[in-house]
Amino acid sequence: MRVNLTVNGAAQAVDDVWEGESLLYTLRERMGLPGSKNACEQGECGSCTVYLDGVPVCACLVAAGQAEGREVRTVEGLAEGAPGDERLDPVQEAFAEAGAVQCGFCTPGLIVQSHDLLERNPAPTDAEIREALAGNLCRCTGYEKILDAVRLAAERKATR
Ligand code: FES
Ligand code: FES
Repeated sequence: MRVNLTVNGAAQAVDDVWEGESLLYTLRERMGLPGSKNACEQGECGSCTVYLDGVPVCACLVAAGQAEGREVRTVEGLAEGAPGDERLDPVQEAFAEAGAVQCGFCTPGLIVQSHDLLERNPAPTDAEIREALAGNLCRCTGYEKILDAVRLAAERKATR
C-alpha cells in the first residue's frame, strides 16, 4: 500500500508498505533515515523514539499505515537550517559535548525525548529529567552523563 505522510517537514509518499510494517522500518529501510534505532522492536527501550504529530512515540510500535496523513519528526529533523547548512539543536550538541554517547544506540531516542521535555519544561529538576527519560534505556553510560547533557541543553536553550 502507499502511505502519505510528512517527515521532517517534507511531504512523502511511500509505496509497497506492507500492512504489518512498523513506522520504524519505513523510516529506516525505505526512507533513508537510520537515526531512529531498532534495539528491541517491542516498545521497551525507547531507542526508536520519534515525534508523531508532536508527541514522542516508539516508532517500532506504530504501524506505518497509522502515520497516514500525519507528521513525523525524527532525530535527523531536529537540526535547524537549510540542508547542507544545518545547525545542531542544543540537545544534540549537549549530548556530544557532555560525553553522553558511548555506543550511541540509545542516543537518538534520548535526544528526541529530552528535546520534548525541554519544550514542555525548559528548566526541569533532576527528578523531572529522570522521570521523562524513564522509558529510554541505556546499557553503557550509567545515565550520569545523560543527566549532564540535559542540564547543559537546558542552559544552552535558555541563552539562545
Ligand atoms: S526499538 Fe522501539 S522501543 Fe525499543
Ligand atoms: S550509549 Fe550505548 S546504550 Fe546508551
